[in-house]
Amino acid sequence: MEQLKGLILSGGKGTRLRPITYTSAKQLVPVANKPVLFYAIESMAAAGIREVGIIIAPETGGEIREAAGDGERFGVEITYIEQDAPLGLAHAVLTAEAFLGGDPFVMYLGDNLLQGGIDDLVSAFRANAPEALILLTPVPDPQNYGVAELDGDGRIARLVEKPAQPASDLALVGVYMFTARIHDAAKAIKPSGRGELEITDAIQWLVDAEATVESHVVRGWWKDTGRLDDMLEANRLILERVERRIDGELEHSQIDGRVIVEAGAVLERSTVRGPAIVGAGARLTDAYIGPYTAVGRHCVVESAEVEHSILLEGSSVRGLDGRMESSLLGRNVHIGRSTRQPRAYRFMVGDSSEIEIL
Ligand code: DAU
Repeated sequence: MEQLKGLILSGGKGTRLRPITYTSAKQLVPVANKPVLFYAIESMAAAGIREVGIIIAPETGGEIREAAGDGERFGVEITYIEQDAPLGLAHAVLTAEAFLGGDPFVMYLGDNLLQGGIDDLVSAFRANAPEALILLTPVPDPQNYGVAELDGDGRIARLVEKPAQPASDLALVGVYMFTARIHDAAKAIKPSGRGELEITDAIQWLVDAEATVESHVVRGWWKDTGRLDDMLEANRLILERVERRIDGELEHSQIDGRVIVEAGAVLERSTVRGPAIVGAGARLTDAYIGPYTAVGRHCVVESAEVEHSILLEGSSVRGLDGRMESSLLGRNVHIGRSTRQPRAYRFMVGDSSEIEIL
């Protein structure tokens, strides 16, 4: 039988997560201290896929290669495929044609997270042998996604990318399975209004050609981590599942519930209430870390309270009166109190940042 391959799309621009994505790929923003992209690679490995192609953009490809490497530690073999410009998901498939050859493949959007993994999906694809298998899930804001309209028998009648007037609330999840027929579809379609070759249109082309396109409604949760609120939500959902593990050092500190404290982290006179994770080398002093918080490696929280937030590597929060919540700090961001005169707010903030103060 042909080999089932994996294709992860990790190019694109990431405009909705600026300023974080000015300097870093959105697929590397961590959820529970692990890059989003790694969850996709791991779920492919778990489904028995060995050959994984990763689409990268010229600007952010370097750091993605550096982070994921040759794939050995995940138990897969990674091939990096550079896409010159983000011309759409179907364009990414065409860019990967030489890698994919005539083999069937799972396509996984590198900023998506699917709780249940892809094992069931792969089994269904093998058992029923459709030309394409797509996943759907009801969402409150279908206009932000590809949307499926089903006929009376539950078969796909029509697929539309980000419709202004959605015909249903069923969004296309960013995990798909295809046979090589998708290459014909991607070559046949024209760019959409936003100038992209849409995978949604390519699948619609298969439907029109009377190819079998099977759809499943996902069990469990799914998240597209493209925006801040989604990122925090994904962080919350992943942290819900962590098992308590305390490898760091505690001095007069208290830890409640499911919390991971990595080796090399030091807590002094602090309280952490889970679910939460504190990365290696982090230092918490007279601090409170509340539920759904991921404190990255080498972060410092001192005389401050942080809850429902993500702190990337090397950031610090010091001496806040109020509690910080629902926040995302990039790498090496420092927030603190000054004793300098005159008493004033002083900021040095990158483009497109957002700050809210009491
Ligand atoms: O998240 C699910 C949605 O993903 C689907 O419901 C939509 O039908 C589908 O078009 C897609 O919509 P988005 O607008 O969210 O896609 P986005 O531009 O965020 O790209 C998804 C991933 O693919 C992201 O990791 C970047 C990568 N990408 C994107 C483009 C346009 C590439 O690698 N190359 C590209 O050309």
